[in-house]
Amino acid sequence: MKFMITGSKGQLAKEFIKFLTTTEHDFTAFDIDEINISNLNDLLKIFDIFKPDIVINCAAYSNVDLAESEFELAYKTNSLGVRNLSFACRETKAKLIHFSTDYIFDGKKETGLYVESDKTSPLNIYGKTKQFGEVLLTEEMNDYLIFRVSWLFGDGQQNFISKLFTWQKSNEFLKVSCDEFSSPTSTTSVVDITFKAINEGLTGIFHINNTGYCSRFEWAKKIFRTAGLKTHLYPAYMADFKLPAKRPLCSAMSNQLITSTLDIPIPDWEEEVQKFVIKFVKKNF
Ligand SMILES: NC(=O)c1ccc[n+]([C@@H]2O[C@H](COP(=O)([O-])OP(=O)(O)OC[C@H]3O[C@@H](n4cnc5c(N)ncnc54)[C@H](OP(=O)(O)O)[C@@H]3O)[C@@H](O)[C@H]2O)c1
Repeated sequence: MKFMITGSKGQLAKEFIKFLTTTEHDFTAFDIDEINISNLNDLLKIFDIFKPDIVINCAAYSNVDLAESEFELAYKTNSLGVRNLSFACRETKAKLIHFSTDYIFDGKKETGLYVESDKTSPLNIYGKTKQFGEVLLTEEMNDYLIFRVSWLFGDGQQNFISKLFTWQKSNEFLKVSCDEFSSPTSTTSVVDITFKAINEGLTGIFHINNTGYCSRFEWAKKIFRTAGLKTHLYPAYMADFKLPAKRPLCSAMSNQLITSTLDIPIPDWEEEVQKFVIKFVKKNF
């Protein structure tokens, strides 16, 4: 089985690469300078050379706030880029594994966690471009897996845990929102479940998130307690931060469909955060 990974410098891609290097699988990983998924001609040339069986798309425009002013760039990557990949995969009979987000939901559901069949209604440009990416993909091909993930953390600087550690260095007090809820999800859980799903030959749309959910404030408390840091955390409202992009209030998703289909449990968010923070502290302090 030949794998191709796009967006290879991102945090999720790094975890896939780490995993694949421990297996016998043949794989090639490309960063944005080697394959820009917005460019269909370049993509087709690369597909022709590498002939992948499975493409894992980790490429994304993921800066939620900047997307508000860089709509075109976000759209070219998260919508058109995904359509390009779908087209190339369909033409070459490759399977496409793609990642979407809980930000395709508006966070206003009051009758339980979001399930796969729930209506999507993104509040911000990033969410809209990701939602449209899903639509274009599913119109273009059949042999796909779309995994919606939330509050991802793994190796790299672009996640809440790394940012929190950076902010605490120069702040005695930190304000964190207590009215924003979702499920922190480790890249290791996502990679693990993705390969189980590939091995079972699954297709379709599934939610992958660590089990349970919390507010961003509770998440921060768990991180600092585990790390033994004394920084004072101050509960704030999302509105206090005056961020350019609106975020859903509670976009926590149910992982019931994937756990029952694969007949596996998914670790709780607290367990995964604790494991990650302990490793992070050993490595960085
Ligand atoms: N991070 C989260 O909390 C979160 C939450 C929900 C869903 N997701 C989804 O999960 C997936 C993985 O996220 P992540 O956190 O690993 O993202 P990430 O760390 O931002 O990685 C994305 C990578 O894609 C690259 N890229 C951007 N535009 C590209 C293009 N046109 N062609 C090729 N590569 C391009 C980026 O390069 P540059 O850095 O040079 O731009 C970056 O290396 C994404 O689909 C994301 O939307 C993430």
